[in-house]
Amino acid sequence: MNTKEKSFKQALKKIANTVAIVTCENGERRDATTVAWITKVSNVPPLIMISVSSKRYIHNLISEAKEFNVAIIGEELEDLALFCGTKTAYDVDKFNEWNIETMKPYLISSPLIKSALVNLECTLVNKFEVGDHTAFIGEVVAAHNLREGKPLIVTDRLCTLD
Ligand SMILES: Cc1cc2nc3c(=O)[nH]c(=O)nc-3n(C[C@H](O)[C@H](O)[C@H](O)COP(=O)(O)O)c2cc1C
Repeated sequence: MNTKEKSFKQALKKIANTVAIVTCENGERRDATTVAWITKVSNVPPLIMISVSSKRYIHNLISEAKEFNVAIIGEELEDLALFCGTKTAYDVDKFNEWNIETMKPYLISSPLIKSALVNLECTLVNKFEVGDHTAFIGEVVAAHNLREGKPLIVTDRLCTLD
């Protein structure tokens, strides 16, 4: 990495990002992937955007399923975020490996994460390439407020990996 790239990287780290675990299920295939590039983009209709590299297993899964769930997790789930952000569904079933407890969604097929603060069921309404990632725009069709707590923000420990 050259000096200019290093300085850009350092500056961009100042953008605070909430850490979410995005889940998606399509038939026999499922995944739970850590995503920090996530933001609201509209109130009416309620739209959120996640930015996902095409290298991720979940990338094609979302494209095919046309839906995903966003679990906003609390600070106590940092280790789970690390796990879902370093393991890939190309190699392991993350749900079985970590024993992730799920809940049934109301309107989509992708599983909810029981220990999250909030789960947002989304249907895919748009997707487009943005540089080396794909922006997936999801309409929130159901929201589950499960518990109060401080949402996990990207920490120095997690930062090197996103
Ligand atoms: C804190 C953190 C944040 C991350 N944010 C993103 C992200 O916003 N977009 C992305 O494509 N990958 C992100 N990653 C990387 C993926 O979570 C990681 O490559 C994961 O192993 C992909 O799993 P999959 O192949 O099962 O989809 C992040 C990783 C960490 C640890």
